[in-house]
Amino acid sequence: MKKRLVTLITLALVGVGLAQSNNTITTNGGVPVGDNQNSKTVGEYGPVLLEDIYLVEKLAAFDRERIPERVVHPRGAGASGYFEATKDMSEFTKAVLFSQVGKKTDLAVRFSTVIHGKGSPETARDPRGFAVKFYTEQGNYDIVGNNLPIFFIRDAIKFPDMVHSLKPSPVTNKQDPNRFFDFFSHVPESTHMLTRLYTDLGIPKGYQYMNGSSVHGYKWINAEGDVTYVKYSWVSKQGEKNLTIEEAAEQQGKDWQHATMSLRKDIDDKNYPQWDLYVQLIKPEDMHSFDFWPLDATKDWPADKIEKIKIGTMTLNENPVNFFEQVESIAFSPGALIPGVEPSEDKLLQGRLFSYFDTQRHRLGPNFLQLEVNKPLEEPNNYNSDSWNSAGNKRFENPDVNYQPSSKAALAEDPQYKQSETTLSNVTITQKKISKTNDFAQAGDFYRTLSKQQKENLIKNLSGDLGAVTDKNIQKTMIGHFYQADRNFGMALAKVLGFSQKDFMH
Ligand code: HEM
Repeated sequence: MKKRLVTLITLALVGVGLAQSNNTITTNGGVPVGDNQNSKTVGEYGPVLLEDIYLVEKLAAFDRERIPERVVHPRGAGASGYFEATKDMSEFTKAVLFSQVGKKTDLAVRFSTVIHGKGSPETARDPRGFAVKFYTEQGNYDIVGNNLPIFFIRDAIKFPDMVHSLKPSPVTNKQDPNRFFDFFSHVPESTHMLTRLYTDLGIPKGYQYMNGSSVHGYKWINAEGDVTYVKYSWVSKQGEKNLTIEEAAEQQGKDWQHATMSLRKDIDDKNYPQWDLYVQLIKPEDMHSFDFWPLDATKDWPADKIEKIKIGTMTLNENPVNFFEQVESIAFSPGALIPGVEPSEDKLLQGRLFSYFDTQRHRLGPNFLQLEVNKPLEEPNNYNSDSWNSAGNKRFENPDVNYQPSSKAALAEDPQYKQSETTLSNVTITQKKISKTNDFAQAGDFYRTLSKQQKENLIKNLSGDLGAVTDKNIQKTMIGHFYQADRNFGMALAKVLGFSQKDFMH
């Protein structure tokens, strides 16, 4: 009956020329468009009129289609799926997703290369980003990691310079080993990361075939407020597979978007990629018992000293249907933490806590957390008001009270979610390097785990870029760093680059 009435009204409107079918193009203001092919002109051959509001809107929208690309990690691929906990970790953390065996949490991931632009080849030697956003009932929790378990530097203050040296030259617009090795020759803590990056791990075969790491230690907090330091590792169930430099060149000639496409294909074919999540835990009182500082991001937490405990599995089973909305607009941050996880004192992490939310306000706009892919499961509850920052413009029962404390406020804080306490004594505020730098030992340990073939590939890959450096002093400093990691490593590199022992005698 009701349906008939609607039909009659529609017919009546058609009769007077007012009906608008569902597929009629409209302006952004919802006004039906009569001609999407011809601009309004003065006569058939005359100039176009500024009064063609629809044309102006269409061109203006197009002119603004591109948003700034990420300042690093611009090229990436995404997918969504779920995490299933296989171990109850509530002894160590209140984090809801790790609190119950069998608990499933929806998630989205973005894998990426770091340095080159949005349309760059996926065959470049580069760390790979491995970022996971968990949509938990206590808000969104991100683990924003990389495929390698360590990083080039340990202090955020060096990050902009490091990235400038790795990005294309401001003069030639070409990435130049002369520039980045100049920088790294002054940064001995980069030796470990460079050693790993110049093995074939530096060019994963596809995103499914790489492991991931949080790189930093974070703090896990349990219901009693006890702190345990935690580092996360993702282990690919597809196995770790990489490309040699020759295979990468061949791949680039055939299809340099292979990483995005093979991830998509596996998911389309229901061959869902999976990763197991492991954690390593250190009690605060044990933090000083190693020959390195565990919150130094240039250091791995060795599995033979700190056990890796499997706590769950991630499955990716859904491809994005709108790349811009689901992948380009996703905003990860190491500061997106939930009750039970807090930042550690890691100096690199502390800088990241500022940088991601800051860049996202610029890249996506101040309301970036209201975008579908970044929204928490539950609508936010707070009195951030007006402008773009309002938390979803939520309307409360008494909208006049948009402040707190108040006897009439609808919202109140809950002390069970207070952050953990840290006691500091004898504190000196300072600007200095950590004393336990131990810049070379882990690079050497890693080098010695490599097979003969892997060592040969490392020397070949490294001598390619280092061989392109024209300043012999930079080459010699870099060789010196690798020599301090492992004598044979340094000597093999020196030989390939045409140095003899006397070149290093002063
Ligand atoms: C992306 C800054 C170190 C992993 C980004 C972005 C910025 C940034 C500004 C772009 C974010 C966006 O536009 O949404 C920094 C700073 C660092 C640092 C200042 C050091 C002080 C690291 C480290 C890791 C890492 C150590 C790995 C543990 C990532 C990943 C992305 C990213 C995976 C891409 C996230 C995505 O897919 O959207 N970083 N970063 N970064 N960073 Fe860092």
